[in-house]
Parts: sequence; C-alpha cells; structure tokens
Amino acid sequence: MCGIVGYTGKDQAAPILLDGLQKLEYRGYDSAGLAVRDGKALAEVVKATGKLYHLADKTDQGRALKGNCGIGHTRWATHGDPSTVNAHPHVSGNCTGSGSGKVESDVAGVHNGIIENFAELKEKLLRHGYAFYSDTDTEVVVKLVDYYYKKYKIGPVDAITRTMVRVRGSYALALMFKDYPDEIFAARKDSPLIIGTAEDASFLASDVPAILKYTRSVYYIDNLQVARVSPGQVKFYDLNGDEVTLNQTEITWDAAAAEKGGFEHFMLKEIHEQPAAVRDTLNSLVKNGKIDLAETGLTDDMIRSLTQIDIVACGSAWHVGMAAQYVIEELAQLPVRVELASEFRYRNLPLSESTLVIVISQSGETADSLAALRVARERGAKTLAVVNVIGSTIAREADHVLYTLAGPEIAVATTKAYSAQLIAMDLLAVQMAFVRGTVSADAYAHDLEELSLIPEKIRRILEDKERLQWFASKIANAHDIFFIGRGLDYAISLEGSLKMKEISYIHSEAYAAGELKHGTISLIENNTLVIGVLTQSRLYEKTVSNMMECKSRGAYLMGLTTNGNFSVEDSVNFTVYIPKTDEHFVASLAVVPLQLLGYYTSVSRGLDVDKPRNLAKSVTVE
Ligand code: F6R
Repeated sequence: MCGIVGYTGKDQAAPILLDGLQKLEYRGYDSAGLAVRDGKALAEVVKATGKLYHLADKTDQGRALKGNCGIGHTRWATHGDPSTVNAHPHVSGNCTGSGSGKVESDVAGVHNGIIENFAELKEKLLRHGYAFYSDTDTEVVVKLVDYYYKKYKIGPVDAITRTMVRVRGSYALALMFKDYPDEIFAARKDSPLIIGTAEDASFLASDVPAILKYTRSVYYIDNLQVARVSPGQVKFYDLNGDEVTLNQTEITWDAAAAEKGGFEHFMLKEIHEQPAAVRDTLNSLVKNGKIDLAETGLTDDMIRSLTQIDIVACGSAWHVGMAAQYVIEELAQLPVRVELASEFRYRNLPLSESTLVIVISQSGETADSLAALRVARERGAKTLAVVNVIGSTIAREADHVLYTLAGPEIAVATTKAYSAQLIAMDLLAVQMAFVRGTVSADAYAHDLEELSLIPEKIRRILEDKERLQWFASKIANAHDIFFIGRGLDYAISLEGSLKMKEISYIHSEAYAAGELKHGTISLIENNTLVIGVLTQSRLYEKTVSNMMECKSRGAYLMGLTTNGNFSVEDSVNFTVYIPKTDEHFVASLAVVPLQLLGYYTSVSRGLDVDKPRNLAKSVTVE
C-alpha cells in the first residue's frame, strides 16, 4: 500500500525523501512524488509514474529540488488510475497538466488509506468554489483541510482535527502549510505512521526501514492524533486540539536487516533467515526448558477457561491459522475455527468470553484483520494478537500480544514471518495442551525437544537448493499447478500454492486431495503439474491414490515427503524430501522447499520477485 515519508532538518530534503521511498518500495506502488519547500518559498511538486527511478531521474536524484523540508509518497492506486496527475502529493490550489512544478497553494499533502465519504465532501467543496484536478480522495482531504484553515482562520492542528471529524475511512496524512516553514503536520487513523527524531532533524514514515539509517528513536502516533513535526522536535495533539504526551520507542533492529546483504533478492535472503527467525521466536517463549507465556499476559486459568478458539487472519497468516487448527485441535482438544478476516468482520458469529480470538498478522496493520479484532473485542471475546511489528495497531489494540521475532520483512511474499508465526502457534498449542492436561509431561518434553530442532532442520533444507532450482526452470512455462494434501498437508498446500502464484503469475490452486474428484479433476490434462504434500502417515496412502488418479489423466507429479518414505519415488516424477520431525510440526519444514520452488520459478521467468505486480506488503485498506 502507499508509502509516506517526510523530512525536516538542516540537510537537503529531497535525496533523503527519495532514499526513504526506496526503502518503502516493498509496500507496492505504481507512481511516486515529492513536495519540497525552500524556506518561505512555495512547495515544488514533482511526480512520476512507474518505478521510483523515474522520479529520481526527473529530480537529478533529488539534487535539483532545493529545500530542507518535504514530504514524499509512493502511491498504490485506489481512487483514480495510476497517472501522474493522480500521484501524490496533492495541493489545495489548482494544478494543471501533470501536477508537477511550483505550486501556488497553502496546503500540500500525501495520504495512505481510503476516504470513504470523499464524494460527499467533494460536492461540499465544489459548492464552496474549489476545483479538482485529480480523481483522488486525497485531493479532497487536502482541500478540506484548506477550507477549514481559511474559513475559521485557525492553525494547522485545528484545521486538521476539524477535517478528521468530517472524514470517514482510514488515513495517514502528512501535510505542509505555506505559512509554517520547516514544519510538517501529520494525522492518523487506522493506517500506519511513525515519527522519528534526531538531534536537528525529524522524519516521518509509513514503516521503520525508511528512517532506520537516520534515527532509532521513534514515536508511534496513535489513532485520531495529530503531530506537529519540526526539526528535532515533535508535539502531539488529540482530537480536541489538546496536547498529549507519547512515549518514545527505541528500534532495536539492525539496519543491515533491511538490506539485501549479498542476496539477489530480499525474498531469498528472508528464506535463509528462517532458522534465525524461528529460533529467536522460540527462545523468546521457552525459558528454562518450559514454555513461558507470561509476557503475553495469558494465564493458565484463562487457558483452562477457554471453550473455543477462533483464528482470524488474511493470506499467508490465514494459512498459518489453518495449520495451527490441526495442531491445537489434536493436542489441546479445543474446537478451532479459522476465519478469513475479511469475512469474519461482517459475520454475526456468536462469541463469548470463553472464546479466544487469535489475530495473526506480520504487519499488525492489515485493515481487515484490525477490523476483525475490533469486532471480536466488541462481542466480548478475549483477543490475542500474534504480530511481528512492535507497536503496530493490532498489537496495541489486542488484549494480549505475542510478538514473533522475524525482524523486518521486505519482500512482498512472506516467508520468515510465516515461519515465525507457525512456531509461535505450535508453542501455543503445546502449552494449551499441557495446561489443559491433554498431554503428559513426557509428551510435552518430547514436543519441546522436537520444536527446538526445527531451526537446524530448516538450515539443512536450505543447503540443498540446487535440485529445486533445476525443477523450477523445468516447470517455468507451466499454465496451471495444483497443490494437494489432506489435513495438515492441505494447510501446507495452501501456502505452497500462494507462494507459487503470487510471484510466478502461474495459475495455481490448492485442494484438499479428497475434493479433487468433486469437480477439479476435470482440469487435469497432459502434463498438468500436480504437487502432492505427503507428510502425514495416516493420510499418506490416500493422497498418493489421489495423485495416481491425476497421473492416469496425464498429470506430471511432484511429491513432497519426509525422509524414509522412499516408496513415493516409484509413483511420482520428482520427489523432494524433508527431514523427519513430529508430524504435528512438519509444516515448518515442508513449506521451505515450496517457498524455494516459487522463488526459483519466478526468477526463471524473469519476474520482479520482491515486488510482484498489483500486490502490496501491508494491506491497509479494505
Ligand atoms: C503472501 C502474503 C500475504 C500476507 C497477508 C496478511 O505472501 O504475504 O498474503 O500474509 O496480506 O498480511 P499481514 O500478516 O501483515 O496481516
């Protein structure tokens, strides 16, 4: 989704803004722009469609834009097509042509989010003589701020709070006012925004990597708050315009964690960071040989009082929920529902205080997951967020938080955050089982031992990539790929299929193997690739039979199984083995070859692996 940056300080703003935007590229975008002001001079706006280097070329890497205070934006189109005129920043005055150049305006701004009542607000502003040059909801907000600013002759903070009361939807806004040189004003509701300060400079950004090079001291501006940012200083206000105090947080991430570190793509680097991400998450939850949930605030009594678990998430995080469902049900013998957040939020599911709603989210900002969390709280359920980004909105709003320690994930397709979520959910399942008395002390010790070996086993899988690289080049021209499995193998198939389709653009589906016969098998033709996931001994033969049914109709087969199941080699065309582990925890291993397969297929097809088309890393709109 859109990325916002801002800078005010002693240095030239534009190169810093471009550098920040580059760090936010992973979020997905189709155009970009900058507005920079030079002392009292009006803002100069430059915009370009397509990749960021077009904007960098237009501004001589930012050097051509004078001024020490500015805002920048990467736009992921929602209202209006991805054109230069629709790109941000937008201004309160009129703009001709592409919207670039010196602008005679009082307010300039950038926005991430969606203003739901923008049409109604636009009509109001048209009645008051405003003219519009773009199709965006952002231009409407900037003009509404300008309207209140002039009508009531109030300062920027009050003009912004009045605007916030009128708009519906989500936003992170960064605004500059002609009469306030060196200052940037920001506001936020349900879209991420952080503010960092250094000695003589301040920074705004949608995410930490954009400012990590300059400062580690950040504020997470709260929902419905306004910030007034000047060099090295920031003040916060609530909706009444009263000043409020926020605590500063020190970011502990290593700046190198947000760089490629010698890997060709962030995705490959993050795949290789999985042993560390899983180990760190595990070590944060296991103390002196026991699972310790004290930091989450979940007590044994709470766990014993539960009668139902609902896991709510989107995309890959939902796949983690699908895998965890089998593990929690089997070990802790608690009923589990796994719901897509975008569906859950509009359903009228009965919830009670004996229900624990677990929201899984890497970013902690996904709009549907956040809305689902709020619904769950309103209906009286207990809530636990399993989140990677510290201080994110979901983490702040949930009753309990379990942080995964995957570090910053830049590639759009998740890998290490998925694996960190999976181990966190497995540990939760084991602890729930132990507390509820559904596993013995010996079984508990065995499970912990098995989980502690997962990082090393992932490392071993990563040592043997060449066969997958070769196979990926062989299947790079496939039209369709089906992933099938039963039980936990179905959950693994879901993630394998998503990894394949989102970065290779090859059509792919995951099916519960037993469902094929109910329709989908008619799609199998000569050489259609069917990948069977075969890690569950109880279901192994059944899935192999389903694969054979596909083979008789011409399918080309790949089997993914655990070391020792060599019989599969006789039945399929290509076999991938993973180390043995307790079958409950096998998803952590089985997903790795499937991530690599998706990755190498995308590379073979010459695609933009880290930034697949149409996708955004953090989906902050509905
Ligand atoms: C796929 C992927 C997405 C995310 C989904 C949820 O590779 O990354 O499907 O899993 O958008 O995002 P978070 O976890 O940030 O809520």
